[in-house]
Amino acid sequence: MCMVLSWKMAPRVWLCILALFLQVLLTTALTDAEDAASLLSLKESWANVPSSWVGSDPCGGKWGGISCLNSRVVSITLSSIGLSGSLSGDIGNLVNLQTLDLSYNKGLSGNLPASVGNLKKLTNLILVGCNFGGPIPESIGHLDQLVFLSLNSNNFIEEIPDSMGLLSQLYWLDIADNELTGSIPVSNGRKPGLDMLLKTKHFHFGNNRLTGEIPAQLFTSNMSLIHLLLENNLLSGSIPDTVGLVSHLEVVRLDNNSFSGSVPATLNKLTNVTELFLSNNRLTGNLPNLTGMGSLNYLDMSNNTFDPSDFPSWFPTLQSLTTLVMEGTRIQGQLPNGLFSLPQLQTVKLRSNKLNGTLDVGSSYSSQLQLIDLRDNGIDAIKQRARSYGFQIILDGNRICYEGGTNEYCTSSQPSNSSYSTLPDNCLPAQCSNHQVSSRTCKCAYPYTGTLYFRAPSFSNLENSTYYEILQESMMKSFQSHQMPIDSLTLSTPTKNFNSYLVIGLQIFPSSGYHFNLTGVVTIGFLLSNQTFKPPKLFGPYFFIGDCYKYFDGVRTDKSKGYGIIIGAAVGGSILLILAILAGVFAFRQKKKAEEATLRSNPFASWNKSKHSDGVPQMRGPTSFSFEELKKYTNNFSDVNDVGSGGYGKVYRGMLPNGQFIAIKRAHNGSMQGALEFKTEIELLSRVHHKNLVRLHGICFEQGEQMLIYEYCPNGTVKDSLSGKSGIRLDWPRRLRIALGVARGIQYLHDLADPPIIHRDIKSNNVLLDDCLTAKVSDFGLSKLAGEHEIGHVSTQVKGTMGYLDPEYYMTQQLTEKSDVYSFGVLLLELITARNPIENRKYIVTEVKQQMDTTKELYGLQGILDPKLDSSMTPKSLEKFVDLSLRCVENTGADRPSMSEVVKEIENIMELAGLNPNVESTSTSENYKGGSKQSPYVEESPFAYSGGYLPSKLEPK
Ligand SMILES: *[C@@H]1O[C@H](CO)[C@@H](O)[C@H](O)[C@H]1NC(C)=O
Ligand SMILES: *[C@@H]1O[C@H](CO)[C@@H](O)[C@H](O)[C@H]1NC(C)=O
Ligand SMILES: *[C@@H]1O[C@H](CO)[C@@H](O)[C@H](O)[C@H]1NC(C)=O
Ligand SMILES: *[C@@H]1O[C@H](CO)[C@@H](O)[C@H](O)[C@H]1NC(C)=O
Repeated sequence: MCMVLSWKMAPRVWLCILALFLQVLLTTALTDAEDAASLLSLKESWANVPSSWVGSDPCGGKWGGISCLNSRVVSITLSSIGLSGSLSGDIGNLVNLQTLDLSYNKGLSGNLPASVGNLKKLTNLILVGCNFGGPIPESIGHLDQLVFLSLNSNNFIEEIPDSMGLLSQLYWLDIADNELTGSIPVSNGRKPGLDMLLKTKHFHFGNNRLTGEIPAQLFTSNMSLIHLLLENNLLSGSIPDTVGLVSHLEVVRLDNNSFSGSVPATLNKLTNVTELFLSNNRLTGNLPNLTGMGSLNYLDMSNNTFDPSDFPSWFPTLQSLTTLVMEGTRIQGQLPNGLFSLPQLQTVKLRSNKLNGTLDVGSSYSSQLQLIDLRDNGIDAIKQRARSYGFQIILDGNRICYEGGTNEYCTSSQPSNSSYSTLPDNCLPAQCSNHQVSSRTCKCAYPYTGTLYFRAPSFSNLENSTYYEILQESMMKSFQSHQMPIDSLTLSTPTKNFNSYLVIGLQIFPSSGYHFNLTGVVTIGFLLSNQTFKPPKLFGPYFFIGDCYKYFDGVRTDKSKGYGIIIGAAVGGSILLILAILAGVFAFRQKKKAEEATLRSNPFASWNKSKHSDGVPQMRGPTSFSFEELKKYTNNFSDVNDVGSGGYGKVYRGMLPNGQFIAIKRAHNGSMQGALEFKTEIELLSRVHHKNLVRLHGICFEQGEQMLIYEYCPNGTVKDSLSGKSGIRLDWPRRLRIALGVARGIQYLHDLADPPIIHRDIKSNNVLLDDCLTAKVSDFGLSKLAGEHEIGHVSTQVKGTMGYLDPEYYMTQQLTEKSDVYSFGVLLLELITARNPIENRKYIVTEVKQQMDTTKELYGLQGILDPKLDSSMTPKSLEKFVDLSLRCVENTGADRPSMSEVVKEIENIMELAGLNPNVESTSTSENYKGGSKQSPYVEESPFAYSGGYLPSKLEPK
């Protein structure tokens, strides 16, 4: 445009130079202006973005997790980094995007915006293990390039959109572990349906609330489907015989539904099926004839009402069988000879049938045999062919045990548990500090951790370490072939959960240094979320849930949002960019101010000296803020930033100039928490440092204002989650981790703080959840130093919250650590009932004690347990949990356990539930049939006379 330069035409020259200058600016920004604006908008709606997200040129400025091609953003991979907030509709403007992976960020919530439908080039949409909710948008059907769609382990509701049927390139469809309802859509003349997905190999729909019959039309011989996973839904009607047409099928899980009628005879046409689950339905008729299913490794048909029959004659054709589970299937008579000589057989579970006669395992039984569980049958003898067998036989509840009495197989034994953990490689484990972990090669580092879930493994002998060695080797190879910076990995605590998923803990260690950088974490996350790593076939389909990685800087730090001054932004003409410049300048000024503020003189000069407050609080760490600063950070204490309120005052969310969110607790003028409590809280908080105690950033004490500035916990209080207010769903593993976190926090106060501290106000409203759902005890306004005696003084007045208050303390006014144990016990009961301690004039402690019947499963407490827990917990772990809660709320302090005993017991319970107490966050993969998210927030008990509220979830009001 500036071809002709004429010196005589000065104004034009000027314009040309300007244009050239603009062009130069334009080329210095490597990112397409529209894409840059969209990313800035995403950044605005998220907390905890990578520290490299500064400036306005994501492609040129090397924003972590973003890849570009020809100045267009083509991929966003940000798994496991603790992102929170919602997904901005601006995502839809990144029209060149091919991959979007935001997996394992449990703080990401809100709806999936309809604008994702604009991403015409998207091939991978992966949002595993976040907290997204609302319906899956119909517009998803516009993504006609989509190959991978993984929305599993979120809170999606309502029906599977018909439009998914339009995803003609789709290979992988995982929508498991949500709260989807309605029936499985199939096409008709007017609408598309899932029967059109001829290229899709994976239907993973388990753990939802799908209803209705499976339409016969869903299955055709043109399908490529190999994994059909419908377990744990509410599907009913009969299983359509068209399923026999889907000849490629390898894994079929129809268990835990309400299917009725007889099993279609066509099922045994599926000769490539290796895992078949039909258990826990209402199937009737004859036992299915599985003759010829020679690939079958794992068969579970338990708990159906088949017609009584003898042991099926087709079993010798199942030569690959490792596992036969037919509990409660009404089979009767003598167990046939030869059953146990199937060459790969590991486990036979035939509990609760009518088998009788003599048990004879034969002389040529499988060398892999590990367990024969025949409890509750009518067997009256065993033919013992060897002095002892190398496998477990359980015959409790058979005639042989009533009459003979002391048979060694009648010992009320449970199937034993495995306890595998990768061993160090010819070296001594290193002694590691600062929460580092010793790797397989005996180096200390911060591993990237998470949990692998195998939805249908072909084996059942969890004690055979060969399986884990194979898995480990194949995983290591896969990582190496992708040039991942990995030193080693360890696998640990394999267990089966109630879904019969094989659950294995995974730790991945960095090859250099002692922590991963962002790229390392998001790349490993993607390899697993995107199924790039393919385990050996015997493990079957899997998914992975990564934990939030916190050690990018070598130590746990709260990452802050970057800020910077933007150059060349105006060229793109985007208003957003101009705003960003202003924000940058503003931020810079704010930072200077903040620095000045820290130099400002002691804010406690005017502190009202009294007997109990000897002057200025002693602080280490927290800074003091000026009122003006806080006013700016909260946009003049605007309503939008008001995230909670209570007797004490209001809590605001604010953002520091560096982008970090803070929570500001602002007292009412003359509010109840007096200067004394204010000071106590500051002094205590600044002295304690523990990951389960909320951190104090600073204070503000001027212009008649009392404000405390805390770390911001975007996921609100535990009470908000239990009541359904925050939309964070708490399955059993998460509740256990919260209980453990709180217990460890209190234990720290009691045993490790010097001098010890008694919190005095433990309650669900005072426990916050951070971006990784780590529990943080807050509100130290009422805390007391242990041993500080209160004699005949105004402060002898009993403080705490009604419902949580230790009756002994109430009566004697003697405060001890055991008062916290009592309140904690009430909190535990809240965790399992999701009730207020006092509701409808009923006291939770009395209620549980009255209804409890230890002879029944779940102690007969079904009626008052939180219905949202459903089958996501194991009865045994719940019972132990109830036992512990009741010990904590014993009337006499001396009868209650100490917090360190409590911590140990919760760790035991977690292990019992198949969870690793030392892995921080939890997956959402546990089965969950959540309740309504709309349930109204129940205001806290009117008896409460302590104030103290902390922020609820970051959500638009
Ligand atoms: C069954 O499995 C075999 C071996 O893996 C394979 O060659 C064959 O094509 C499969 N059959 C079908 C119908 O998928
Ligand atoms: C099962 O099916 C096979 C072949 O399909 C047949 O030969 C056999 O008789 C059937 N068995 C029973 C018990 O119906
Ligand atoms: C069969 O039902 C019983 C009772 O509900 C249950 O305890 C058992 O785990 C079920 N068996 C299987 C294999 O699902
Ligand atoms: C075993 O059970 C079958 C069928 O219920 C019955 O006919 C048979 O007599 C029983 N045998 C013995 C030894 O009790």
